[in-house]
Amino acid sequence: MSERKKLLEVTNLKKYFPVKSGFLKTDYVRAVEDVSLFIYEGETLGVVGESGCGKTTLGRTILRLIEPSGGRIEFDGEVIYDKDAGVEKQMLPYRSKMQIIFQDPSASLDPRMTVGEIVGEALAVHRKDLKGAAYTDRINELLETVGLNTEHANRFPHEFSGGQQQRIGIARALAVEPDFIVCDEPISALDVSIQSQVVNMLEDLQEEKHLTYLFIAHDISVVRHISDRICVMYLGQTVELAESYELCREPMHPYTQTLLSAVPLPDPDKTKQRERILLEGDIPSPLNPPAGCRFHTRCPYAMDICKEQPPAWKEYGEGHFCACHKVAQENA
Ligand SMILES: Nc1ncnc2c1ncn2[C@@H]1O[C@H](COP(=O)(O)OP(=O)(O)O)[C@@H](O)[C@H]1O
Ligand SMILES: [Mg+2]
Repeated sequence: MSERKKLLEVTNLKKYFPVKSGFLKTDYVRAVEDVSLFIYEGETLGVVGESGCGKTTLGRTILRLIEPSGGRIEFDGEVIYDKDAGVEKQMLPYRSKMQIIFQDPSASLDPRMTVGEIVGEALAVHRKDLKGAAYTDRINELLETVGLNTEHANRFPHEFSGGQQQRIGIARALAVEPDFIVCDEPISALDVSIQSQVVNMLEDLQEEKHLTYLFIAHDISVVRHISDRICVMYLGQTVELAESYELCREPMHPYTQTLLSAVPLPDPDKTKQRERILLEGDIPSPLNPPAGCRFHTRCPYAMDICKEQPPAWKEYGEGHFCACHKVAQENA
């Protein structure tokens, strides 16, 4: 069981954004702090957490669309970034293996380009062998793959509905035949009525093309059914990661318990037992995150140690990771 291949592994990944905070003074938004996780080939790893907790930054930093501030990224057995070792590989060869689907399709499609040009843009870079009719055929094939029709190639993005625009975004990501796709809240900007169509399509494509997904959502109920494993983030850090079923049934971290208390369970007896937990206070700013455990200011179980020392990211039971002093004490 533990023989599965890890397609991607990040270690202590960090992203700090510099922001001017006064004359000659710079502060840093610590958007992603010491994130360590891996993704098995062919799986969907869901990433959940409130808006602003660093999900998009994590996804884009993994792809190095945003340059990391520290840590290490290994993809398909090759180190593509390692701050301490001074490795910063050229990403061009990896762009055809690692792609992204954006949250807001209308903002991510160039309004001056036709759908055919948008979908074909990466082919021109990565598939120089495709010329003339072969190039057009490939674009038509991609449009059909995502349920659009070939006449759509000559139209512009604004002529399409949100769901169709997201299909164009998906076709663009698929064009180069990637192995790994970051799906950054791909359905949250879409009408509820078409969200499941797009999710189903992503699932079918995954099976057909053996894709590996990092699937970002702010709502755990969106990812729990489609993810093999789920990772929960709070204020730039991962607080818990486990198989979806296990995470939803036996959440360890108080923050995960809070998120799940808002979601109805399939097992009604359990739902009754599970009181809705409401957190006090607002999410602190990543410009000045709390010392110790970043969640301690809102945690109903916070102890003295939580205010002083960041909890270690540890594995409890097979594949169940958590960063919490209380969990560490209970499992000591
Ligand atoms: N380019 C940037 N410059 C400064 N701060 C940023 C930038 N991008 C994101 N942030 C900040 O980083 C934090 C995480 O943002 P983001 O990754 O977009 O969160 P999420 O996707 O979970 O909503 C937020 O506080 C956000 O304001
Ligand atoms: Mg986001």
